[in-house]
Amino acid sequence: MTDPTPSDLVDGYGRVHRDLRISVTDRCNYRCTYCMPAEGMPWLPRQELLTYEELARVARVCVERFGFDGIRLTGGEPTVRAHLPVLIEKLAALGVDLSLTTNGSTLRLVAHDLAAAGLQRINVSCDSLRPERFAAITKRDDLPQVLDGIAAAHEAGLGPVKLNVVVMRGVNDDEIVDFATYGREHDVEVRFIEFMPLDAQGAWTDDQVVSQAEIVAAIDAVHPLDEVPAAERGADPAARWRYRDGRGHVGVIASVTQAFCESCDRVRLTAEGMLRHCLFATRELDLRALLREGASDDDLADAIRAEVGAKWAGHQINQVHFIRPARSMSQIGG
Ligand code: 5AD
Ligand code: SF4
Repeated sequence: MTDPTPSDLVDGYGRVHRDLRISVTDRCNYRCTYCMPAEGMPWLPRQELLTYEELARVARVCVERFGFDGIRLTGGEPTVRAHLPVLIEKLAALGVDLSLTTNGSTLRLVAHDLAAAGLQRINVSCDSLRPERFAAITKRDDLPQVLDGIAAAHEAGLGPVKLNVVVMRGVNDDEIVDFATYGREHDVEVRFIEFMPLDAQGAWTDDQVVSQAEIVAAIDAVHPLDEVPAAERGADPAARWRYRDGRGHVGVIASVTQAFCESCDRVRLTAEGMLRHCLFATRELDLRALLREGASDDDLADAIRAEVGAKWAGHQINQVHFIRPARSMSQIGG
């Protein structure tokens, strides 16, 4: 086989794709209200998940053929899949920026092994710093473990550690400043995420969305902020602000009020091997079928190119014709 020279993976709007998000499992040890029902979530049977060999092969094709430079592992909760460091070692060998999004519950136990296998950075999701509220949101009384997990991630060298907070009106919007203060004190970049219509129960309404403008105003009133110029943002979905006193940064992912679709450089692979060109895509490419039918790297690359070629301009959450995806974030991969 000749060594292919990478060529850009471009869609019909000229966007170049270089970032792969891999969901390694649809399972999770939490049941966040906005993501999963408390009981009765159907899990994928094991044989329907891509194996680590299959996942690594798709990743390798994306890197070799299309010059991908970033891979993020997500779930569900990625650390509940057995032997995750085995996958991380395979992906680290590709030489890309390798990161992981986790609920943090197991980090004290696994952070060291993940870092030793080649993981570089970590994002922890946490929506309340109040133990009772944390338990009400996740259905698990685990806040101390998560906060200790963040400390473990720092100790393991998985920095910069970022903290994802989904802001929901009437649920945790009174903790915006508390989170900002926590981030300043613990060397963590907090990223507030506008609540998106992705919950398994379909309970989302637009009045629960707290906008970027509101979030930034609340923080700025207590810890003055200066906006980081948009030119420094690249394909980062977060807009960022710098604390005027020099104590770090804070970000907002304004998927609803300031969609960043025009700079999107991502494709997603679900745990069962479906390639999605958007979180909200209404179609997907069955890469698992191709992999298990004996497709060559050329076949995989051609299929990926065709799928991304059909990518739409954006999700249009704010438009009347927006179609909510049939699957939740835990099934698609964050
Ligand atoms: N809206 C916004 N963010 C969400 N996440 C999960 N569901 C939603 C939603 N409906 C977040 C998780 C995690 C990241 C991968 O996505 O909390 O931080
Ligand atoms: Fe688990 Fe994340 Fe869904 Fe919460 S949001 S239930 S931590 S997958």
